[in-house]
Amino acid sequence: MKIFIDTANLDEIKEIASWGILDGVTTNPTLLAREVERTGKRPNAVLREICGMVKGPVTAEVTSKDAEGIVNEGKKLRELAENICIKIPVCKDGLLAIKKLRDEDIMTNTTLVFSANQALLAAKAGTNFVSPFIGRMDDVGNEGMEIVDQLVTIFDNYCIETEVVVASVRHPMHIVEAALIGADVCTIPYNVILKMLDHPLTDVGIERFLKDWGKIKPK
Ligand code: G3P
Repeated sequence: MKIFIDTANLDEIKEIASWGILDGVTTNPTLLAREVERTGKRPNAVLREICGMVKGPVTAEVTSKDAEGIVNEGKKLRELAENICIKIPVCKDGLLAIKKLRDEDIMTNTTLVFSANQALLAAKAGTNFVSPFIGRMDDVGNEGMEIVDQLVTIFDNYCIETEVVVASVRHPMHIVEAALIGADVCTIPYNVILKMLDHPLTDVGIERFLKDWGKIKPK
């Protein structure tokens, strides 16, 4: 399973990329606005910098609502870097824009997906990625991971190449579940990536090994 980081924070991306585990980055208007406020840099400057930090896709979301506006915005964003992937909310105009951008070989990630049918239509229109928002579904009492299970099966049934990106990840078990189901990608916030490494027995073990080693070390 590929690991993307779900942030626009340049420091977080730099740190996680340095571990050699990062396959891509997802941003959205909320995350990008937060980084623009934090750094004082312009949105496109932030995106360009992120694109230089990873080889894989970096998603940048459009804010236009009509197909023509989405396509124009997508084309402009694509000029920033070759690994830009245009994030488009699933809707009628979004589908139209996905098809037009696909015809121009511009990558798209269909976002705000909350049902298998939405994702199926986006895949048929030619999107490269679909992003079901697992955490937000859990928040309203649904079992978010069910849609990931459905999508992996449906895409497998019909040899659909669109990749399933598990998004809106809240905790480490979401990642284990996504990997067990066979999702293509999990996009994970920085704090959750750090939690993936944590285990109290690892900390206790390191401490104990060092203590025992300290007993025999020449003074
Ligand atoms: O990639 C989707 C993500 O940015 C949304 O996450 O935590 O706002 O539901 P969240």
